[in-house]
Amino acid sequence: MEMIDLLLKRRSVSVRLITEPGPSEEQLDLILRAATRVPDHGKLAPWRIQILRKDGQRRLGDFLAALFAREMPEANEKQIEFERQRPQRAPLLLVVTSKPRPSPKVPELEQLLSGGAVCQNILVAAQALGVAANWITEWPAFRPEVVEHLGHDPATDRILGFFYLGTASERPDERPRPALEDVVSEWAGAPAPAAENEDVA
Ligand SMILES: Cc1cc2nc3c(=O)[nH]c(=O)nc-3n(C[C@H](O)[C@H](O)[C@H](O)COP(=O)(O)O)c2cc1C
Repeated sequence: MEMIDLLLKRRSVSVRLITEPGPSEEQLDLILRAATRVPDHGKLAPWRIQILRKDGQRRLGDFLAALFAREMPEANEKQIEFERQRPQRAPLLLVVTSKPRPSPKVPELEQLLSGGAVCQNILVAAQALGVAANWITEWPAFRPEVVEHLGHDPATDRILGFFYLGTASERPDERPRPALEDVVSEWAGAPAPAAENEDVA
């Protein structure tokens, strides 16, 4: 497929529709190489990617279930089990974390955006290889306990996304996209401010 067709037809596959098998080792290597080839001002590589195979997914699930149960004493077994299964919903899970580095030249926002590019490249590379992928945050991405449990510093580092990878059980429907005219405009300069005390003839 032409690259432009891929970009114009790209679609995520909902995690509900992702099943076995996961990507091969060769596909995973290609996805990771594409993911890390992103604009990165100052060559800081201010992001990390973690690969969670079955053991990692299970252990993260156990952690989420325990955290959820601790914070929601009224939660029932079914809800706790759902949290345990959350990271185990697809054959392979990638976690992308932003790890900003102190830099006088590269603002933190740029480093964060570079991480967003890593995330998007994962989706595009996966689709190019026929691997189904879904970029999800959900509550665990925003919890410092989870950031720390994954070995990062909650004071500085942020989870940008969990990427569920596998095989699509069905083809996703088309998803409406914004009309170009709603989000794109021409700009050729701001109107000149009205001069003060301008003589009106
Ligand atoms: C940063 C980020 C976080 C997201 N988190 C979630 C999420 O937690 N749950 C969800 O259903 N979709 C989430 N999405 C949306 C999906 O990844 C996806 O964009 C959406 O289903 C449309 O897919 P497509 O435009 O890639 O086809 C998130 C998207 C982004 C960019």
